[in-house]
Amino acid sequence: MTIIAPSLLSANFANLKKDCDMLNNSQADWFHLDVMDGHFVPNISFGPQIVEAICNSTKKFCDVHLMIEEPEKYIQSFKNAGADNITIHLEACRHLHRTIQQIKSLDLSAGVAINPHTPIDSLKDIIKDIDIACIMSVNPGFGGQTFIQHSINKIKQLRELIDEQLLQVKIEVDGGITLENAATVIEAGADVLVAGNTIFKSPNPIKTIEKLKSI
Ligand code: DX5
Ligand code: ZN
Repeated sequence: MTIIAPSLLSANFANLKKDCDMLNNSQADWFHLDVMDGHFVPNISFGPQIVEAICNSTKKFCDVHLMIEEPEKYIQSFKNAGADNITIHLEACRHLHRTIQQIKSLDLSAGVAINPHTPIDSLKDIIKDIDIACIMSVNPGFGGQTFIQHSINKIKQLRELIDEQLLQVKIEVDGGITLENAATVIEAGADVLVAGNTIFKSPNPIKTIEKLKSI
């Protein structure tokens, strides 16, 4: 069964409680929280305080996606805020393995995300150490962008890399997921679908989550 992880980046920030309650009453599996620093990506979203407020509003798994430089400086803050998983970007880490160990030492699930231009091969020597590999299917920084089609090849390659070593690493696909392309993404090997605009900008988000879940 595919895990559905709505991205709160597309929620109503003036009424987060309402959107959290909506997700709590839906079939959403995870909460996906996009943290942006204005350096690693050309946008600023929110930090540990908002993450804490959201994590306190749910019992669901809180998947924190750090699109920030020097993430090692903030791992403890996001742990304290209530994160269950922390995903960092391969492109933002000089010592990726060390930062993954730092996340795991706090008893958290650890993820690595890769940008559209980063080849799957670059995950080869870290794949055994992580719980989630996140393929960015848009350039990170904004919700509501169009899915980059080449991501399908990358998902397939990653599926092979994971399966040939009999690993349990989950493949998360983040960006541009719609009701139209979700089936292809799942067929290619995705375990987790992140969706922002498709859910929050739809007339009936609960129903949209239900639809995504049944694909
Ligand atoms: C992109 C973020 C995504 C994004 C998803 O920088 O990491 O999680 O907000 O939003 P949609 O589904 O609208 O592309
Ligand atoms: Zn994200």
